[in-house]
Amino acid sequence: MLVQRMCMLGFLLIVGIFQIDVVYGYNRPPPRKNLVIPNSGQNSQSPQQVHISAVGQNMMRISWITDSPASAKVSYGPSPSANASSATGTTSSYRFLLYNSGSIHEVVIGPLNPNTVYNYNLGDPPFSQTYNFKTPPSQFPIKFAVVGDLGQTDWTKSTLDHVAKSNYDMLILPGDLAYADFIQNLWDSFGRLVEPLASQRPWMVTQGNHEVEKLPLIHGTPFTAYNARWHMPFEESGSTSNLYYSFDVAGVHVIMLGSYAPFDSSSPQFNWLKTDLQKVNRTNTPWVVVLIHAPWYSSNTAHQGEFESTGMKASMEDLLFQARVDVVFAGHVHAYERFTRVYKDKADNCGPVHITIGDGGNREGLASKYIDPKPDISMFREASFGHGTLEIVNASHAQWTWHQNDNDEAVVSDSMWLTSFSSNPSCKQ
Ligand SMILES: [Fe+2]
Repeated sequence: MLVQRMCMLGFLLIVGIFQIDVVYGYNRPPPRKNLVIPNSGQNSQSPQQVHISAVGQNMMRISWITDSPASAKVSYGPSPSANASSATGTTSSYRFLLYNSGSIHEVVIGPLNPNTVYNYNLGDPPFSQTYNFKTPPSQFPIKFAVVGDLGQTDWTKSTLDHVAKSNYDMLILPGDLAYADFIQNLWDSFGRLVEPLASQRPWMVTQGNHEVEKLPLIHGTPFTAYNARWHMPFEESGSTSNLYYSFDVAGVHVIMLGSYAPFDSSSPQFNWLKTDLQKVNRTNTPWVVVLIHAPWYSSNTAHQGEFESTGMKASMEDLLFQARVDVVFAGHVHAYERFTRVYKDKADNCGPVHITIGDGGNREGLASKYIDPKPDISMFREASFGHGTLEIVNASHAQWTWHQNDNDEAVVSDSMWLTSFSSNPSCKQ
């Protein structure tokens, strides 16, 4: 407790001295109360903060944390068995100021069958609690849950409850996870909050500004907690950074970009993206979906003109347009907005649909002010919490739906059918 208080005091001092760029100041409706989820494990080797992420098309990375050192071993098998196979992995930890993380374990398991429920146990000998997950399908249909700027408040809980009922196959998150903002215990709390969902379906994330956690002179390495806790399959896609990567799932090529990694035309990320897009085979993956954090298109007054939006757009929009990317999801702005197909600020039938879905429920509340009049390219905008689902039915058609958190009910408030570019001869590359 003393250590936590010292960390908090240190943090407040540091914010005061360096005026850290944590974004406040919008006139947002009051958020709901913060949640802090305690560790309810039986002992210091009890697994906690379990989450899984896809590695290639038939492997899964299982990640969890124990307070004291424990074996990084996963026993697993197709339900109802839980011990048909086993695999061991690696353990790491990190320091952030006075905070020492627990033991962060990760084990890649597989090959796994598609669309199959697996049971699994963690540790050696295996801890008594049995978890389960379902692998994504290997072909259409596939349903993504899309949630941005999640945080850990009562609104987050409401959003997660709705997502849990959506029968999704994979969650994709365009940045800003825990809103720990240097208080590392909040990363642990976030891990416990999302475990019921993230241990059951792959969660694929990219970073936002709240993941940077860089302190001049004191902690100069950015993304320490994020990279240690949320290892995404970047190696498998030829990326050299956990901040940007891609993967294929059930006929969809998903590209996670890093709004807070260099993105200029000489950057490793730019060159990696160019190569990655060139490798896309629209026969194998008829759909291409991109996630960023800072939106390239937004008519909300929040975060207008930030370099991560304007600079990245100036650098990379041509690449996505020429590759006929179908949809771009963004977060950062705490509201929902859907644009028409767009390129260089104009409606363009061969450009991606841009959707801002930064409304997961974090403590900063909603970004409720919009630029008026509404630009013609903005089709729907509303400052409410919620989540989206992208159900890709087949190679040509997908349904996008935005579910608004309306007094704790998930209400469908925006919906549209999308047609893939791979099925549209008028936009041939
Ligand atoms: Fe953000």
